[in-house]
Amino acid sequence: MANLAVVGATGLVGRNVLETIKRKNISYDSLVLFSSKRSAGQEVEFDGKTYTVQELTEDKTDGNFDYVIMSAGGGTSKTFAPLFEQHGAIVIDNSSQWRMTEDIDLIVPEVNAPKLERKIIANPNCSTIQSVVPLKLLDEAFGLNRVAYTTYQAVSGSGVKGKRDLEEGANGKAPEAYPHPIYNNVLPHIDVFLEDGYTKEEKKMIDETRKILNLPDLNVTATCVRVPVQDSHSVHINVTLDKEATVQAIQDVFDKDDRVVLVDNPENNEYPLAIHSTGKDEIFVGRIRQDQSLPNTFHVWCTSDNLLKGAALNAVQILEQLLNSKGA
Ligand SMILES: NC(=O)c1ccc[n+]([C@@H]2O[C@H](COP(=O)([O-])OP(=O)(O)OC[C@H]3O[C@@H](n4cnc5c(N)ncnc54)[C@H](OP(=O)(O)O)[C@@H]3O)[C@@H](O)[C@H]2O)c1
Repeated sequence: MANLAVVGATGLVGRNVLETIKRKNISYDSLVLFSSKRSAGQEVEFDGKTYTVQELTEDKTDGNFDYVIMSAGGGTSKTFAPLFEQHGAIVIDNSSQWRMTEDIDLIVPEVNAPKLERKIIANPNCSTIQSVVPLKLLDEAFGLNRVAYTTYQAVSGSGVKGKRDLEEGANGKAPEAYPHPIYNNVLPHIDVFLEDGYTKEEKKMIDETRKILNLPDLNVTATCVRVPVQDSHSVHINVTLDKEATVQAIQDVFDKDDRVVLVDNPENNEYPLAIHSTGKDEIFVGRIRQDQSLPNTFHVWCTSDNLLKGAALNAVQILEQLLNSKGA
């Protein structure tokens, strides 16, 4: 049992964190919900109780919390995560603020476990989480030589504002979350552009893949694309393996492991789809094919719910991992 706080409880990820805590029957002694000033005072019904959302301020970080799940943007995490940490809490942070800090763990429970040098644990980027799980399985079986990602990311990855741009864009309203309309469009642009022409989202995928898989020299490249889909990210993974493999051998690896679900019957038009992933915990993989342009290289299509495995579920699984190790 533990004293919990959820920061960003009124946001898309925060609401899914609460639902996942309930769905997974996580036991807690107390729960405090935080937002910005904007939503403070809002009442949230959760697990048979009514909670009044509080504005997060520095003095409230000393609330005797054991675990704090933060989903409130990088700036909020930069200011408040170290304060919660100083007051003895373990922070599980959904923003990109701490992910590449050397002594901070970047965790996908199916792939790695926290060392807890610091009491802040970073939840990785959504597209990266769903990709590193099948890649870990391929690494264990064949070794990884090179990874090239192309993502097809849902608007809920941009929070409440992204969903609004797609919905209201259908009525001709100008976008607010994106520089161009997302309705009826495809944007080869997620997060800000960096000097080398990559976007920050692409850099996150490259750096975080290496850190989570503990393969600092792995060749990784990425192109991240926003598509007019409400929920669930799709990622095309082009992977070159060290040891010789076949399509069948890769399908067998995925089929035998419960960390992913193989859906690969193209003859029946069966392959992973965003609409089937939405609301589900699993990571789906399929369309495994040999890349005929490069030796020992394969295509994998991967879908997962960005708000669940890509954010809230992964954070709650980290919490479970911590609670279980405490009980052990
Ligand atoms: N959406 C995804 O798929 C996804 C995936 C992985 C990671 N993330 C990360 O998770 C975080 C939240 O994303 P989201 O999609 O849930 O965004 P969102 O729907 O816009 O929600 C943002 C939440 O943060 C709160 N907040 C903002 N400023 C705050 C402050 N100064 N103090 C306390 N709370 C504050 C907001 O409260 P108000 O209601 O008061 O505004 C709201 O509850 C971001 O860091 C995002 O990068 C999102």
